[in-house]
Amino acid sequence: MEKTFVALDNMDKDQVRQLLSDYPQIKKVKIGLELYLKYGNSIVNEIANDFNVEIFLDLKLHDIPSTVAKAISALKGLPINFLTIHASGGRKMLEAAFESAQENLPNCQLLAVTILTSHTTREIKDIWGREYKESLSALLNEITKAQITGLVCSAQDLSIISAQENETNLSFTKVTPGIRLKNDESDDQTRIMTPEDAIKAGSNFLVVGRSITKNPNSILEGHYP
Ligand code: C5P
Repeated sequence: MEKTFVALDNMDKDQVRQLLSDYPQIKKVKIGLELYLKYGNSIVNEIANDFNVEIFLDLKLHDIPSTVAKAISALKGLPINFLTIHASGGRKMLEAAFESAQENLPNCQLLAVTILTSHTTREIKDIWGREYKESLSALLNEITKAQITGLVCSAQDLSIISAQENETNLSFTKVTPGIRLKNDESDDQTRIMTPEDAIKAGSNFLVVGRSITKNPNSILEGHYP
């Protein structure tokens, strides 16, 4: 499973250790706010030391530019490969984040979260005051101007994103949560796609949480790239 980040949500530290021990097929994990706020850096260091996995720290930072830059500098030395910030923080925040990450986390790629996969198109209109395609394009412009090379989006947004990539001659690292197998519950996600379709649509990495954590044996069925 070289392209699948398993989102370690709804679990305590012992359950995380058990999952990673039982399924060495897991090569990439995502630590979100839930685990990080509970255990802090110790959970990141412990997983990095005890398991052969890449770590994506999903903090979704969103604040004024200097606060985000300082928050990233506080992560200096942490063994993480990806870190999220919200694209809606705007160009100056993204630039400050980029500079701070270059200095403090040189081996970590920043991923800008575009529009949450839990949002319906109606909710997006309520929040942004415009259609989701326009909202997404505006965020992509901010990300591009700030030189951020990775983003998090729904796999359903990949066609819009590839059109923008072609226009600008850029290529983003595209990470897609909201992944479900055909018969899975969608839970609180709305803009979802199967693993196979998401990869076909151009996703570089998938994020899969509950589909795996509720049924870890699905890992053995070969659904996840
Ligand atoms: O359980 P599920 O597969 O829905 O988990 C998706 C994970 O991806 C969660 O940890 C969630 O925080 C994260 N995520 C998301 N949508 C985004 C960004 C991150 O669902 N746009």
